[in-house]
Amino acid sequence: LGQEIIYKNEVTSTQEEAHEAARKGAAEGTIIVADRQLKGKGRLGRKWESPPGSGLWFSLILRPPIPPQEAPQLTLLTAVAVTEAVTEATGLQPQIKWPNDILLNGKKVAGILTEMQSDPDRIQAVIVGIGININQMEFPEELSDIATSLKQESEGTTYSRADFIAILLSRYEYWYHHYLKHGFLDVKKRWEALTFTIGKKIKATTVTKTLIGTAVGITDDGVLLLKKEDGEIEHIYSADISL
Ligand code: BTN
Repeated sequence: LGQEIIYKNEVTSTQEEAHEAARKGAAEGTIIVADRQLKGKGRLGRKWESPPGSGLWFSLILRPPIPPQEAPQLTLLTAVAVTEAVTEATGLQPQIKWPNDILLNGKKVAGILTEMQSDPDRIQAVIVGIGININQMEFPEELSDIATSLKQESEGTTYSRADFIAILLSRYEYWYHHYLKHGFLDVKKRWEALTFTIGKKIKATTVTKTLIGTAVGITDDGVLLLKKEDGEIEHIYSADISL
């Protein structure tokens, strides 16, 4: 991964650039990284604050030989790789919030957006967008309570973005190859060890409803299992989770 790294000063979104590159046939492992995104994209149609100089904003093109319905597994795999990279680079221990928010001391330090180009039975490409707050010392007011950076959590230590991406790609490569060879089980176990969502009473807000219950696990597809007060288990495919 990362044999080809395309660096841009400023883009609308590295996701868009990567989608276009993938449609034109870019090889697996191609990475588009930008210093600044004018319209960084978050999950659920949100925007992702991507100022120049301080964060790592990039998209990775994968072409995994898996059926489209298993693509969500890559989202959890990415969260594992990012979490381990943060620990290796800084000594800090982040926690994963389902499906893929990376938190330090309860505040979000990194986000992951996985998108797919596929036919009904075959994946053409998976575009994994990763945003990591590295050296910001302040955030826009509306984010200051919920966002943090590696620097803020380590008493002002400045980290090299180039070093961080190298560490992350090596963790990613390890897990991606392990996954292609041995399947999802070990990734799932590692994800479960790094999350704080499982076992907690949570509120899950989906597009259509709000559910309250205990997060009891994830399925082999990365779907969250929520046990409601009446004992019934709900499958949560996409939602916002709060404690
Ligand atoms: C989220 O937590 O909502 C996901 C955030 C994903 C942000 C990254 S930054 C690089 C890539 N390009 C984008 O426009 N978004 C992703």
